[in-house]
Amino acid sequence: MKSSKIGLISLLLWVATVTALAWFFIRGNTAKGTDRRTAIVLQAGERDFVLSEMRGMLIATQGILGGANRGDMQAVIKAASAAGMGVAADANPSLIAKLPLDFKTLGMSVHRDMDEIARAAATGVPVSEILKMESNTLTKCVACHSAWQLQAAR
Ligand code: HEC
Repeated sequence: MKSSKIGLISLLLWVATVTALAWFFIRGNTAKGTDRRTAIVLQAGERDFVLSEMRGMLIATQGILGGANRGDMQAVIKAASAAGMGVAADANPSLIAKLPLDFKTLGMSVHRDMDEIARAAATGVPVSEILKMESNTLTKCVACHSAWQLQAAR
């Protein structure tokens, strides 16, 4: 009787732990934002890291548009590759754990788009098509920015 009770309690604790981990995995380390967005709460250094990646995204965007405008496909390839999946590998596991699942999915899809733009530019896809791809990617930048903000933990 007693041991079956202990068994039940440990089972419940196990379920609670797994549920909490799954919940954290999906939600990340989030809080109510200062505006209508959800805040992702990071250490100051982690926030700086994400923001510097973001500035890299803007540089890539400018490089892609500038290159496409001049018909310089080498510049498009260089700019897009610099923001591809390769840069996502730099993030450390504790930072990744704090990011909500939706955020990671959207972020990864933008890095993947950048690799695809680089590949398209390398295989002679017309500029009009590259601009269409870049425009679709920018929609993701806008969607993410309207949903999330980054807060430094105090
Ligand atoms: C998965 C979500 C996500 C995607 C996708 C995303 N961003 Fe961001 N970005 C953010 C968040 C969150 C912030 C911080 C906003 C805040 O705290 O108000 C940010 C901030 C920025 C900043 C400000 C950097 C600074 O130094 O303050 C720039 C520039 C930026 N993003 C550019 C881009 C561009 C360009 C793209 C698309 C190519 C992009 N981002 C895609 C989430 C995203």
